Amino acid sequence: MLKIAVLASGRGTNLQSIIDSVEQGKIEAEIALVISDRESAYALERARKHNIKTLFIDPKKFKKREEFDREVIKNLREKGVELVCLAGFMRLVSPYFVKEYKNRILNIHPALLPSFPGTQGQRDALNYGVKISGCTVHFVDEECDRGPIIIQAAVPVEEGDSEESLAARILEQEHKIYPRAIELSAQGRLEVEGRRVRVKKE
Ligand code: GRF
Repeated sequence: MLKIAVLASGRGTNLQSIIDSVEQGKIEAEIALVISDRESAYALERARKHNIKTLFIDPKKFKKREEFDREVIKNLREKGVELVCLAGFMRLVSPYFVKEYKNRILNIHPALLPSFPGTQGQRDALNYGVKISGCTVHFVDEECDRGPIIIQAAVPVEEGDSEESLAARILEQEHKIYPRAIELSAQGRLEVEGRRVRVKKE
């Protein structure tokens, strides 16, 4: 069974959707570890409620990003983790991390990449005036929010939308496409060819 780890910094609703999909047998994988860079992240509490091993790694203890990542990777290896899912993890991963887990790190972003990368995808899309936004699951490469795209879902912007209302509708879609992308990965059906990700038939 594929062993996955989820890295999260916040409330962890995407983590929850992954936990639920694993428990329902939709994703054939085991969540071997949940790591956070914030001790108070509710994501850790969610994991504990499901008897999933958790680990808080304090960024203050490390001078460089790569040193923090080495500690993360040490723990991933100890648990035999093969796939890493970033779910609201508010740190950039170092090139070292990307190299060690080449094409085995996924991320979810609350906008239709390559539009509106960064930490405020929903707000930036709304302020830009787009009529359709959405979310993206992609492989992580050396550049923030740039790696090959696995799945996207479109979410129309409605008249009178606030950042919060748009974000809430995008989040509903995130909770569908992230578990789906992990399921495809667990089934060994994702093939990366340059920028393009091919989904092999079952
Ligand atoms: C989500 O909007 C995700 O797209 C972004 O960070 C947020 C995390 O939310 N990367 P949650 O902690 O999973 O609820």
